[in-house]
Formats: sequence, structure tokens, C-alpha cells
Amino acid sequence: MNASIDNNVTVENNNNKSRFEILKRKNAEALTGGGEERIKQQHARGKLTARERIDLLVDEGSFEEIGKFVMHRSKDFGLDKQYYLGDGVITGYGTVNGRLIYVYSQDFTVFGGSLSEAHAEKIVKIMEHAMKNGAPVIGLNDSGGARIQEGVVSLGGYADIFYRNTRASGVVPQISAIMGPCAGGAVYSPAITDFIFMVEHTAYMFVTGPSVVKTVTHEDVTSEELGGASTHSEKSGVTHFSCPSEVECIEGIRKLLGYIPQNCEDTPPVLIWEGGEQDYISALDRVVPEDPHLPYDIREVIHPIVDKDSFFEVHEKFAGNIVVGFARLAGRSIGIVGNQPAELAGVLDIHASAKAARFVRFCDSFNIPLLVFEDVPGFLPGTDQEWNGIIINGAKLLYAFCEATVPRITVITRKAYGGAYDVMNSKHIGADLNFAWPTAEIAVMGAKGAAEIIFKREIAEADNPEAKLQEKIAEYTQKFANPYRAAHRGYVDEVIMPGETRKKLIRGFKMLENKVDNLPKKKHGNIPL
Ligand code: HXC
Repeated sequence: MNASIDNNVTVENNNNKSRFEILKRKNAEALTGGGEERIKQQHARGKLTARERIDLLVDEGSFEEIGKFVMHRSKDFGLDKQYYLGDGVITGYGTVNGRLIYVYSQDFTVFGGSLSEAHAEKIVKIMEHAMKNGAPVIGLNDSGGARIQEGVVSLGGYADIFYRNTRASGVVPQISAIMGPCAGGAVYSPAITDFIFMVEHTAYMFVTGPSVVKTVTHEDVTSEELGGASTHSEKSGVTHFSCPSEVECIEGIRKLLGYIPQNCEDTPPVLIWEGGEQDYISALDRVVPEDPHLPYDIREVIHPIVDKDSFFEVHEKFAGNIVVGFARLAGRSIGIVGNQPAELAGVLDIHASAKAARFVRFCDSFNIPLLVFEDVPGFLPGTDQEWNGIIINGAKLLYAFCEATVPRITVITRKAYGGAYDVMNSKHIGADLNFAWPTAEIAVMGAKGAAEIIFKREIAEADNPEAKLQEKIAEYTQKFANPYRAAHRGYVDEVIMPGETRKKLIRGFKMLENKVDNLPKKKHGNIPL
């Protein structure tokens, strides 16, 4: 309902029947949001309403609304004649697969879902509940940004939310879905949260929209190109999941919640696993090609090792040279980080380092053990990488692993070269168990590059330089392009056949399940940002 809303309710015929009628009427009004016409427009845009989205998210019948009758308090620009119960955001709690979650869902049919002081207070209220009661917060965003008529009051409301997002970071999981506009400073709340989902073609996020971009940089760009789901899932990496529809977006959130605990003092849910110890997985023995220069898809390693169909990839379309995601091993959640030889030979670059670092930190914040598959030829060389800060970005990943106290296991499938050997969850930076396959090559660099440097003069002076080079490559390969030097030192705990990896990992993580490791007392570290 709109201007006619009964702002100062007077109880007619002061009796209970009349009081009950008022409540029923108000409840019915609240359900209509901005009115039937605007709901039709919302559907015509291919979007669900805020309440329909919540219905899809939570277990049937579990939603309890908080703040249903909240209204704005503005008087300017005609707002004193426009009131909607709820003020453009539905807030409350419910369950997903029986586990408590808090949710807010912006209602675009009410002032374009714009954020007023009262709207912000509702979001803050459920965030505070979430922190005190230790459960995830899910934000379904569909908003024109700050309520323009309210001016600085709405900006203050945003800041109140950013502050809670930051305070809640690492305490309870925070998940954002962008299901419509999300522009200006509004983008910074999702940006602070742990995971962002975006719906393709109907959602966009940008700090400044196409018209401002045109004025300032003279670029012609559409909203979709500037900040649509494909842009942010492939180019910027701002969003972790790009979803073809709202239904798939919400299914994705439900799925993600299944891998993660309720809060930082909880452990992830465990599924009943009746598989017992697995047979030898001989397909794994054939994944790494004979020729070390040939690629293979690290997912061919991941899928057979983890519980069937349990791998849930995060950031799938961004920085494909590293693969991250959740999976289960004998029913228990783990976080996986794997170099991807099928893209850029699995090299570490700026984007891959930042992507993996953020994932490692999420897993460590929420007690999810880490499994690393390593096949990395090193860091990507070049001016582009150096000038844009591969040093500081590579350091993020190094720092994230060094700081992680959850159980950590590494499997070196092939290359572990140079600084990347250290960075990718090496024993030296706190990994608990390190396995290597017989195909592993643990060295400062590849045999050819090494031979060319250390035997440069000998090769140049040889009667047949090419034959000498091959001889030296063979010598270096024999000495270093294998896992045994590292195993002799104990840097690798065991060299294992690929086919027995699943069994080794199940036993290893079981052995580590009560691991306790504490960081030195400090206010907080200073990760190279
Ligand atoms: C108040 C708003 C609003 C806003 C939309 N509406 N945005 N009301 N404050 N920010 C209202 C419209 O008046 C309209 O009301 C209804 O929502 C739907 O809007 P339309 O424009 O008809 O819809 P559409 O064509 O789909 O366009 C959606 C839109 C556009 C792209 C979001 O409305 C728009 O550009 N809005 C302004 C965006 C903006 O500049 N926001 C401030 C950003 S700065 P009726 O009554 O007609 O249905 C910011 C700072 C945050 O947010 C800082 C935090 C630090």
C-alpha cells in the first residue's frame, strides 16, 4: 500500500476483534510490497520479488520475518505521502537444510529497493543477530542505491552496514547475491562479504555507471559490459559465481552453505559416508602425460579423488590457471586449491595468486581443511606482471598459506619449481602432510632452463652444443626432476602412487582432525594487500 497507509493506527471500536483485523490488514499490506503493478513490472524484467526469493532460499515454512512494519521517517520530496510497510527490504531468519541462516532481501518494487535509514537499520539488526547467534548472513541485493530523498542519512546507513560486514568478517559466513542493480558505494557491502553470486543479464555492479564513465573517460559502455555477471566473473573476479537464472543463483547459495560451518567456532557439516576406504583408482595413474610439457586438466585429478560429484568449484571463470573449490572426502568438507596445467601451464600470476589467497583465508577462517594439488612451473614473467604487482600479489598467497592453521595437505603431481614450490603449501610454510607422485619434479626450475644457465660455458664450448645441452638436461633431470631429493630431506613425507591418493588423503585428514595450532598473539597481521 502507498500514501494511504495508516501511519498512526487508531483502533476502531476498541475491542479485540478490531485489533485483530488491523493486524491482518497490515500483514496483507506488507506482503504486497510496492503494489501489484510494480510486482508485474518486476516479473516482466525476468526478476522474482524479494519474498519469492526468500521462499526459494529457505526451507519451506521456516522463514520468520523481523521488522515487517518498519517504515521510513522522511518528510522531504513527497516521502511524507509515500509509505510502504517494510521500507523496501524483507529481513528475518529461517533454515537452509535445517540450519539457521539470517537473510535480507531488497524489494525493488519499493522505491527501487533504495536504502533508507530505516531500511539500513533492518539489515543491521539481522547482522547483529547473526553475529551474536553465530549463523550465516545472506544478502539478496536488488537496489537503486542510497535513497536519494534522504541524502546523508542513507549514506550513514550504508556505512553502518559496511562496519558490521567488517566486524562480522571471519566470525560468520557472509554471502551476497546480486539480483538487480548494485551501484555506487552500495557495491562495497557485497565486496566485503565472503562470496558474491550474480545473475546473468539482470544484475550489474559498478562504482560509477555508464553515463558517468562516458563523461569522465569518453568510453561508450553498456551496464552489462561495465558490470554484468560475465564481466565480474571473468574479468575483474569480483563475483565468484555467475548464474544463468535467479533460481540457479539461490540453488547455488544453498549448495555452498552445505560445505561451510555456521561460524568460526563451528566445524563444517559432515555427511554420512558409507564408502569405506576406496579401492585403488587406477585412472589417476594415467592422468599425468609422459611428456612433461603436455597439459592435463587438474579436474581429472580432483574428481576421482573426492567423494562422487562433491566438487563445487568457486571462481570457475576467473584466473583459470588455478582451480579452487569445496569438496568432500569421506563426507567431510575440504577446500581445494590446484594449479591448472591446462591453462597457462598452471603458472602463478597476479589474478591466480589473489584468487587462491582469498579462498585459503576463507577456509582458514571457517575451519575447513585445505588440500593443495601442485603442478606449477613458477610465477609468470613479464612487465605486465611486474608493473602490476606480482610481487605483492604472490605474497598474498604465500601469507595466506603461512597463516593458515587448519589441517593442510599437499600433493605434488608434477612440477614444483622455484618460489612457487615454497608458496604452494610447502612443508616449510606449515603444511602438515606433503605427498608427491613419482611424476613430481621438485627443483629450482625446469631441467632445460637449469642446464642452459649452469652449464652455459660448457655447452658453448662443446663440439656439439646441442648434444651437450641434452646431456646436461638429462643429468639435471636425473638429479632434481624427481621427488626423491625432497623426500630424502623430509620435505615430502611420502612418495605415493597416484591411484592411492584418495586413501592417503582420507587417512591423513582423519589423523589431522584434532589439530591445534595457534598464531602468535597479535592484534592482527598485515597481509600485503
Ligand atoms: C529513491 C529510487 C532510487 C533511489 C530508484 N528509485 N532508485 N528512489 N532513491 N536511489 C525509484 C524510482 O524513482 C522508481 O520509483 C523506482 O525506484 C524504479 O526505478 P526506475 O528508474 O523506474 O527503474 P529502472 O528504469 O529499472 O532503473 C533502475 C535504476 C534507476 C537504474 C536503479 O532507478 C537509477 O538509476 N536509480 C538511481 C541510482 C543512483 O544513482 N543511486 C544512487 C547511487 S549512489 P517509482 O515510484 O517510479 O516506481 C549511492 C551511494 C551509496 O548509492 C554510498 C555508500 C557509501
